[in-house]
Amino acid sequence: MAEQVAVLVTEATASDVCFVHVVDETRKGLVLMGATPPFTGLSGTVELDLGQGVAGWVALHAEPAVVPDKWKDERYLYIPELRGEDYESLVSVPLIGRGQQVVGVINLHSRKPRRYGDHDVALLNQVGTLLARTIENAGLYERLAVREHMLEQFAARTVEAQEIERRHLAGEIHDGISQPLISLWYHLQAAEAHASDPAGLIHELSKARDLTTAALEEARRAIAGLRPSTLDDLGLGPSLESLAHTVTGPEVELQIDPCHLPPHVEVALYRIAQEALQNVMKHAGASRVTLQLSDQHGRVQLVVEDDGHGFAPGQAGRNRNGDPAYGLVGMRERAELVGANLEVSSTPGSGTVVRVEVPSIRQSSTTRAE
Ligand SMILES: Nc1ncnc2c1ncn2[C@@H]1O[C@H](COP(=O)(O)OP(=O)(O)OP(=O)(O)O)[C@@H](O)[C@H]1O
Ligand SMILES: [Mg+2]
Repeated sequence: MAEQVAVLVTEATASDVCFVHVVDETRKGLVLMGATPPFTGLSGTVELDLGQGVAGWVALHAEPAVVPDKWKDERYLYIPELRGEDYESLVSVPLIGRGQQVVGVINLHSRKPRRYGDHDVALLNQVGTLLARTIENAGLYERLAVREHMLEQFAARTVEAQEIERRHLAGEIHDGISQPLISLWYHLQAAEAHASDPAGLIHELSKARDLTTAALEEARRAIAGLRPSTLDDLGLGPSLESLAHTVTGPEVELQIDPCHLPPHVEVALYRIAQEALQNVMKHAGASRVTLQLSDQHGRVQLVVEDDGHGFAPGQAGRNRNGDPAYGLVGMRERAELVGANLEVSSTPGSGTVVRVEVPSIRQSSTTRAE
């Protein structure tokens, strides 16, 4: 597209060559994206910083530059590949996008000395507006494609995480609640055999009752682990406070502000805090851990910071048994799935900070609460 536009405006203005430079946001500079022959093969290879050369100046100042004699213009920068020695004059116009920001620059060059007039600048401005839209749309399309790819990855990981969770649950049920139920069955069978022996019968029934209590306890523990009821009843802040009370070892400092988040985000933050605190207890050897929840400028931030001996993030792939470690990976995935940013910073010898940030829904929740 840039190349076709370059050809059209070169003919329409009786110029000799045209270059279209596009702003590269990651580089904070310009990249040549289209040119008329004999420069068509140079697309993507010529780069300029903002402010560098006439095109860089135009991109920085967002205004056209008419240059009748480029050798006398201090903004001009000689780029050997673009054979500046063959051309005398040029006009350079910014490509302005929808938000009034510069998305590129279009340059026309003439072999013979010439002063480009208002008519040429107006034409370039008009063509430039259309070209700017196309460049912006291409950028949007690219960003959408990246996001779609990320969503596909999320979906795949969610399915995988679900399978891991199911295997974990199967293990919990097998090792947890199934064991007392099996013993209960044996004791009830034994009770049957003691039908004519009241003492033996009472003994077996009392065993069976104890096992029922144990099974119920186990079920309660499993349910609490699956979904902490305090989250439903009291919300994230108080749930984090009660989580902090389960920490053994380091002293816990709590700073909890009221926050407004959708329930699925609350669960994610709770789980991240839970894993981060478990890691502090298991690995950090810390004397103090801070648990902070704040809601400022529309962002909710959860921070778990310890003063332990830290670790090198590159060595965090395996747990103590040499099995793959899921804690940090799981935290990151939970954060990504709810659109939160997670940062884990640690260096051996100093403590560790786990920080999660997510947009608040303060406005809408406040309105609902009122
Ligand atoms: N707060 C911390 N202080 C010191 N080391 C830490 C801390 N958090 C994590 N680590 C290190 O990072 C490693 C990976 O942590 P991760 O939570 O992923 O796995 P894990 O706790 O070993 O096992 P899992 O969480 O799967 O039961 C840990 O084994 C530990 O070496
Ligand atoms: Mg862990």
